[in-house]
Amino acid sequence: IMEMIEMPKNFLWGCASAAYQVEGAYQEDGKGLTNWDQFVRIKDKTFKDTTGDVAVDHYHRYKEDIALMAELGLKTYRFSVSWARIFPEGRGAVNEKGLQFYENLVDECLKYGIEPMVTLYHWDIPAALDTAYGGWEDRQIVDDYAAYAKCLFKRLGRKVKYWITFNEQNIFTTFGWLLAAHPPGKFDAQKMFYQVNHHVNMAHAKAVLAFKQIVPDGKIGASFAFSPSYAFDCDPKNVIAKINFDEMNSFWWMDIYAYGRYPAFTWNYLDKKGLVPEMEADDKTILLAAAAKLDFMGINYYQSIVCEYNPLHGGVDPYGTMNTAGKKGTTEIKGVPGLYKNPPNPYLMTTDWDWTIDASGLRYACREVTSRYHLPIVISENGLGAFDILEDGKIHDGYRIDYLREHVLALEEAVQDGCDIISYCVWSFTDLLSWLNGYQKRYGLVYVDREEPEGSSMNRYKKDSFYWYKKVISSNGKHL
Ligand code: BG6
Repeated sequence: IMEMIEMPKNFLWGCASAAYQVEGAYQEDGKGLTNWDQFVRIKDKTFKDTTGDVAVDHYHRYKEDIALMAELGLKTYRFSVSWARIFPEGRGAVNEKGLQFYENLVDECLKYGIEPMVTLYHWDIPAALDTAYGGWEDRQIVDDYAAYAKCLFKRLGRKVKYWITFNEQNIFTTFGWLLAAHPPGKFDAQKMFYQVNHHVNMAHAKAVLAFKQIVPDGKIGASFAFSPSYAFDCDPKNVIAKINFDEMNSFWWMDIYAYGRYPAFTWNYLDKKGLVPEMEADDKTILLAAAAKLDFMGINYYQSIVCEYNPLHGGVDPYGTMNTAGKKGTTEIKGVPGLYKNPPNPYLMTTDWDWTIDASGLRYACREVTSRYHLPIVISENGLGAFDILEDGKIHDGYRIDYLREHVLALEEAVQDGCDIISYCVWSFTDLLSWLNGYQKRYGLVYVDREEPEGSSMNRYKKDSFYWYKKVISSNGKHL
């Protein structure tokens, strides 16, 4: 046991989840179908064609799960709302049963003094909107999303203080429109990719502005999948490759949230290629106004990345095997010719799914966000996906404890460095559906007895990491 610093008073030790990955009950109580309900039914899209139809049955077991959270001493539970439970058609008539479910979930958290943190969009869009106008591809989505957000702010704003507009905009748009690995399953649709992102940015901005009217005391941000980058070495070519990477992959999104403007390098690069998004007259004003009101930057941190010079001609392919990202055994180098490529980091180990393990990257991420944006930070996700073994009712996941300990330590260093960090959410509380990897890639502090086929007991078992995190929380970060 390491004796470390105490975290700030009222620090929100948390865990996170997402509706599609935990709830199940995909057709219950008036819920409409979503893009994911449909996508998982296309053959070979997910591991063993696994669905989230039942997931880990959180919809019916939330009381049991939240009681376990209380036992853990959790201060915050970050979960997402499934839009199609609230508006089965995406817009129009509200489904009271959907609203009631989330209000019950919130009340159950509050009963134990657990601060609910609500994500409005964690990748599941009502299928009806895809059918009606192509979902995120059409500008109409901006107002429909804003109406959905307002409905939740009004219903839950008195009870929920922390809100997140979007989970990993960079991931769901990249996987959806460039890699064909998430819905709508398009490959290399570059022009549309940037247009979709602009729509998401406007939806985010309008929701932030509405939030400040409806819930003036609340806090709102977006959760970004941030992979801080390192230049391969001090060869100036590699250092420029690093800046290119950052501008294209990180600042392109985070600058919008925090500053309300697109970074110059990327805009210029896209403009030359005819890829800049179409904007309406007021968009810039709206983006600026929303950015000025952003309360925190949400960061999902899993790994850092290395950047190296990539020649324009004969360079590494833009997508390479990124198309198989998220699947085991993807070590091939990828990159954008003329800008950068991303070789593995020779100093670091990887997970069973080849994700680089780099605790100090979390400190680096916090430092960079602090110096660039001067915003408080919510670490809205961090955790280890691994194969776990249940034996005699126990799961000895020392590897997960090691991973989390190193990351919490890095977080404490970032606090000592002067970063204003208000929360840390372990991904995840219970095991859940890993979008493309079924149920075998486990992240939970609590094991769930289920594998890909339906019909298991769904019983919950506390892993060793559960007991470890309990001590971390009760000592406010001193006992790691
Ligand atoms: C993040 C997502 O990208 O990483 C989560 O917000 C996801 O929803 C998590 O589950 C881990 O990814 P994966 O592919 O290992 O399940």
